Amino acid sequence: MNVLLIGSGGREHALAYKIKESKNLGKLFILPGNPGTKSLGQNIEDIDQSEFNAVVSFCLEKKVELVVVGPEQPLVIGLADYLRQNNILVFGPNKNAAEIEAHKTFAKWLMTKYNIPTASYAEFSSIEIDKAKEYVAKLKLPCVIKADGLAAGKGVIICNEISEANRALEEILVDKIFGQSGEKIIIEEFLQGEEASIFAVTDGANFICLPAAQDHKRIGDNDTGKNTGGMGAYSPAPIITKEILNEVEKKIISPTLNAMISEDRKFVGCLYCGLMLTSEGPRVIEFNCRFGDPETQAVLPILEGDFLQLLYSAAMGNLDKNAIKYSGGAAVCVVAASKGYPDSFTKGYEISGLENQTDGIIIFHAGTKEIQNKIITNGGRVLGVTSVIKTNDLKLAKKNVYSALEKINFKDIYFRKDIADKALRKLE
Ligand code: AMP
Ligand code: GLY
Repeated sequence: MNVLLIGSGGREHALAYKIKESKNLGKLFILPGNPGTKSLGQNIEDIDQSEFNAVVSFCLEKKVELVVVGPEQPLVIGLADYLRQNNILVFGPNKNAAEIEAHKTFAKWLMTKYNIPTASYAEFSSIEIDKAKEYVAKLKLPCVIKADGLAAGKGVIICNEISEANRALEEILVDKIFGQSGEKIIIEEFLQGEEASIFAVTDGANFICLPAAQDHKRIGDNDTGKNTGGMGAYSPAPIITKEILNEVEKKIISPTLNAMISEDRKFVGCLYCGLMLTSEGPRVIEFNCRFGDPETQAVLPILEGDFLQLLYSAAMGNLDKNAIKYSGGAAVCVVAASKGYPDSFTKGYEISGLENQTDGIIIFHAGTKEIQNKIITNGGRVLGVTSVIKTNDLKLAKKNVYSALEKINFKDIYFRKDIADKALRKLE
């Protein structure tokens, strides 16, 4: 089977790595890919993925039998719809189902209508700023203000004081710091607890959950400083016990997929559930319409079986739940970033130490570029350095990943030193 994978980040490198293991794989194309995916397939750099026609022509010419879409953006603008209209099989939801990530107001409306546990909320448009301020004045603080649309993980502001909330409202609704994405906002109750990410791979009706992961969104150790796209992840997350997973499947994933069918928005692909484990049970913080990054870099390496078969069967509408299994490994992924991220940073520094790593270390490329046989930094999140071991021993996995990082160097390298500590503290 020839496969086209869309995307260029660490998540896509991990997807390519796992798809490549399948005995059913013919050719793997990655559009546009990155220097890491180059060794797993053919990077396609001369086609613009937003030109749907060109993508379809490529698929027909290369006899692509499955398209796997990594990031949300192409899904939100309807790439999957267009491929399906052209009879090309695709793993990833149509535009109307990707709304679950594209518009928080839609996700919250859906959860409210179908009794799916989430934080209580209210929604306001840009002409309702006074009403929004009145609402905040009566709320128990902290509260959480979120832009309705996509904002690359930055559209969430946690407000401890009324003055902060009023400022956030002005910034989003009047100054439009998130542009169109902040045309509407939601104001949410602040949830206390620990976070976890669960990926449900689904054909729309049936689903299978991959081992749970925990992301580390803040830039600094001990969850301090600014929010980022994610600074590291580990899997499995011991906080997701069998009982909790059961509850998440019954009260969140199953009703959400059914709700999407009832609303004529059948969701095919990976439903990412960002959860807060509160004292009253798991609550949804957000849904995403694709695999999470960096979580994918920790979750996929511990799966056994034929991952491509899993994606293919989901895309076919006939999920093969036995295609993959998890039987006891562990992985820790630490993101090596450019100093300054998530704000401004300098690119173009040569990276050393990528070779001669020990077995069990996988270096996923995210923001890198190859120039004259050298790999240089080309983004905020540069590498996802991942250690994978056969036993569920997060302590050893953590030790291994930080040993690997000692060998890697580029100017201005920055990474968190505490990835997986939250789980380790609990296990002690
Ligand atoms: P999101 O982009 O919706 O995942 O939000 C980014 C981060 O903000 C989450 O990972 C949480 O740490 C935090 N967050 C979002 N919503 C809430 C909430 N209702 N209560 C507490 N923290 C939240
Ligand atoms: N790791 C968070 C996300 O993928 O949205």
